[in-house]
Amino acid sequence: MMNSRMWPDLGFGVGLRSEHFDELLHGGESCDWLEAISENFMDTRGRPLQVLETLRRDAPVALHGVALSIGSADPLNEIYLSRLAELAARIEPALITDHLCWTGVDGTHLFDLLPLPYTEESLRHVVERTKTVQDRLGRRILLENPSTYVAFADSDIPEWEFLAAVAERADCGILLDVNNVYVSAFNLGFDAAAYVDALPVERIGQIHLAGFTDLGDCLFDTHSAPVHPEVWRLYERVVRRCGRVSTLVEWDADIPSFASVRAEAEEASRRVRHLEGEGRGNTAIARSARRSVGAHPVALSA
Ligand SMILES: [Fe+2]
Repeated sequence: MMNSRMWPDLGFGVGLRSEHFDELLHGGESCDWLEAISENFMDTRGRPLQVLETLRRDAPVALHGVALSIGSADPLNEIYLSRLAELAARIEPALITDHLCWTGVDGTHLFDLLPLPYTEESLRHVVERTKTVQDRLGRRILLENPSTYVAFADSDIPEWEFLAAVAERADCGILLDVNNVYVSAFNLGFDAAAYVDALPVERIGQIHLAGFTDLGDCLFDTHSAPVHPEVWRLYERVVRRCGRVSTLVEWDADIPSFASVRAEAEEASRRVRHLEGEGRGNTAIARSARRSVGAHPVALSA
């Protein structure tokens, strides 16, 4: 069994993007922690890895992948896993995460995070592969709920039950992207609050926040805007239930200054502190705050 102490409390971070390298290296900018897209740093000859190693001296880093393709019918990519393991050994990340999705088949990479059919068959498939990946890396990973626009007609398990079952059976963590829940709930017509309420608290090791684009009859997960007020409300619902969870703001298009993105992370921090003030006494938030004292960001390694 696992409890909240198994996940480090990293605070409120920002997704590392090359547009911000100079501000972070030379502009005096910083934040609690950074999340690096794993695939962008696997080339050991490039400047990005040198930058990451420099920034890593001052802030914890999580490695966030987009190409593990945990749900694909293709065999796991051993070369990819070796490079990820090498990067992890070099960076010593606080967390290693990827998505509950597939990104290609028959050796073709489709450069998108595609949803899975949520069935018992695919559940067993994802669980076995997650166990293999964790054995290969020697530590737990966290899988993130994707933003979705279509669903398989064959799916007979709600996404939140599927994600919870993967986490329990594979003994992995959940990266809960609150924005993705809101986007998918709107697009597919399910209840976002019921989704976040159904996930096992002890498995949620990280939260993502981001902004979407409203196309009218569809919400598009663009990461190009501030966090929407309804997503903030959903985030507060998660915090009331789970207490403090390492929170990170993603921004991937129309990227503003680092300070502007960090302001969103600071807003998350302000809301959590406000909720802790409201809940001081005997709520989950207060208990979690006490547990997090002294937490070390790299103490997760299994
Ligand atoms: Fe995300």
